[in-house]
Amino acid sequence: MNKGIAIYPGSFDPPTNGHLDLMERGAKIFEELVVAILRNSEKTPMFSVAERLEMLKALTGHLKNVRIDTFDGLMVEYAKSMEAVCILRGIRAISDYEYELQMALMNRKLEPTLETVFMMPADKYSYVSSRLVREVAQAGGPVKGLVPEIVEQRLRDKIVSSRQPEPRSIEIPAGIDLGGRKLNPNVTAKRKKKA
Ligand code: PNS
Repeated sequence: MNKGIAIYPGSFDPPTNGHLDLMERGAKIFEELVVAILRNSEKTPMFSVAERLEMLKALTGHLKNVRIDTFDGLMVEYAKSMEAVCILRGIRAISDYEYELQMALMNRKLEPTLETVFMMPADKYSYVSSRLVREVAQAGGPVKGLVPEIVEQRLRDKIVSSRQPEPRSIEIPAGIDLGGRKLNPNVTAKRKKKA
């Protein structure tokens, strides 16, 4: 176990088995690992920050030295405020390397005392990304084995709720009597004001 706090930052939208694998590896070598969810991402997330926070807390309950938090703004500033000694990031394949290298060097430029440590998740997760999981789940495909069961269930719930029809709004002309008939529950009605 290494002395000090490490930050594992990311979007985690949603958390995958690859993320969890990395957290378990990180928890073994750092005194404390803080999994930090970016709050102000430009992307429109599938899961709110509160939903991701809750899922990650449930997933890491067995890892006593792992804490879940959120951050805003520059990651190095957040890491400094937490008195972290390093940043943990995962590299799955060579295709990740270029972006990760760029980010690590930019972070080093911003805060030279902070080191980035890269770890590889288990090879069975080398093709798993949050983006592909979202894509497969949204198209109705199976994501079993790619994400923890809690996340699988949340994905199912999210997709079912996103398929509910939008309530339609109609305007009932003034003076029209519905004669006690009920409207379709997906329709909301607003009575038109008399001219
Ligand atoms: O899971 P992701 O989306 O690959 O994580 C990217 C993340 C959140 C680590 C990165 O975008 C980040 O640190 N953003 C915070 C803003 C920042 O510090 N940007 C400069 C990074 S070089």
